[in-house]
Amino acid sequence: MTAVPDRAQPRPDAPLTQALAADLDAADFRSEPLRSLWGEEADDALGRGLQEPVLRALHSRDDALATLGRLWVLGMPQPQDAVERALPKAGVAGVVTLGLARVEGATVHPQALIRPQSFVDADGVGEWWIASDLDEAALGAALPADHVLGVGGASRTLAELIIPVPVERALDLGTGCGIQALLVSRHAARVVATDISARALAYAELNAQLNGVHDIEFRLGSLFEPVAGETFDLIVSNPPFVITPRATDVPEYEYRDGGLVGDALVEEFLRHAPAHLAPGGIAQLLGNWESRADAPGLDRVRSWVGDDLDAWVIQREELTPLGYAELWIRDGGTLPRDAEFTSLLSAWLDDFAEREVTAVGFGYILLRRPVTGATVLRRFETVSQPVSNLGRALGAGLAAHDALATGIPDRLVVAQDVTEARHHMPGEDDPSVIELRQGGGFGRTIGVDSALAGFVGACDGELTVGQIVAALADLFDVPLAALWADIEPRIRQLVLDGLLLPAAE
Ligand SMILES: C[S@@+](CC[C@H](N)C(=O)[O-])C[C@H]1O[C@@H](n2cnc3c(N)ncnc32)[C@H](O)[C@@H]1O
Repeated sequence: MTAVPDRAQPRPDAPLTQALAADLDAADFRSEPLRSLWGEEADDALGRGLQEPVLRALHSRDDALATLGRLWVLGMPQPQDAVERALPKAGVAGVVTLGLARVEGATVHPQALIRPQSFVDADGVGEWWIASDLDEAALGAALPADHVLGVGGASRTLAELIIPVPVERALDLGTGCGIQALLVSRHAARVVATDISARALAYAELNAQLNGVHDIEFRLGSLFEPVAGETFDLIVSNPPFVITPRATDVPEYEYRDGGLVGDALVEEFLRHAPAHLAPGGIAQLLGNWESRADAPGLDRVRSWVGDDLDAWVIQREELTPLGYAELWIRDGGTLPRDAEFTSLLSAWLDDFAEREVTAVGFGYILLRRPVTGATVLRRFETVSQPVSNLGRALGAGLAAHDALATGIPDRLVVAQDVTEARHHMPGEDDPSVIELRQGGGFGRTIGVDSALAGFVGACDGELTVGQIVAALADLFDVPLAALWADIEPRIRQLVLDGLLLPAAE
């Protein structure tokens, strides 16, 4: 493998990053202008790791946007005079001081990528510039172990999960380039961002400066060490959860591997997070968990969470040990044609075999410290259908759980995104299957019988729940008590899942 040349350390410096931000702004260095500059097809190809279409589109252009695009989006050296022109305020000397570039002869070599990242949250649409380490394409080599990752698929997944409510104190554990800390800073009065990597923290601080965000405190250390004795209203983490064999010759990437055996890092996180949650405080993280011969993955996660906490764990996918090993060996840049692929695969499979791992689950974990006396929510489920706006749906689910503690609301209405599908056997009048379908959030499909379908259909916010059930008991000619015993838990579930909502007073 090619050795990675000595890399500069990012060096945050507020006045210089401000000057750089002014230059990026003046060049219109943002997602849409860049996408229009090289075209949609080239932009999509870049997302798949293909640089050539972008390079062709930029051929012969040396304006500021094209120069900065090649330098920091692609990570390609550029002529110094063109970079000087593109950075009238920060100058080449400025970005060298920031550790974002170095000069060799009359050429500026990028030392980092800077990519515009758009985001959408409750306050609207925005965009940040996010600096991170050069990727494999720019390095022309495998990633070093202390690589600082930019915004990836997992970062976006976590960002979409975060419940968008204002909080006083938030913690982003394992902040990396700082993306989650920036996001939560939009609705938290104070944010602490931690990482075991000084290099990552330097990027995170530089990114906060670059985007004019000043209320984040950066602390170095492992897991909860840097926040000993402190509590938070929100803890978010995209931790280094990738299960990695602890064998020699297996690369230990700081950005994805917490250095423990199997899924112990996720267990460790879940065992320690509760002590750092204020009453009502929520922790949200991504994780992997192993299913072992004697214990399904979700049961193992359940055993890591104290009974006094709300827990909502959503398994999104499950891979076989082989599928998992292949995924992460490829992610590290090693392909089946490379000499070390087979030995890495053996190391992963031996490691899994040692613990009798049958599958590896991936998903989302939410913990909440209930306010005193509340009933505890315990939900461990597999959700494989497409989902959207999960942050909002999770928030609504917690609110529904809290509301149900005092009983089913008197009057209910059907949520606007719910439709009903009826399936009939050919020639039959009565449906053999009735389904309620949720259009947004979890996108759940729930099979109901005619009594429950009749109940939901009558939830107009005018009739009370009691009136509707009494009318149904008459209609189906069944004892009211029996119908209520049968239907009540299913109505609760529909409220918890957000298909039925309390009617406005
Ligand atoms: C997958 S990256 C997540 C980065 C970023 N938060 C995001 O969502 O894109 C995991 C981060 O955890 C950090 N990390 C690794 N081990 C850690 C530990 N024991 N304690 C705290 N952070 C750790 C890594 O340096 C890396 O920045």
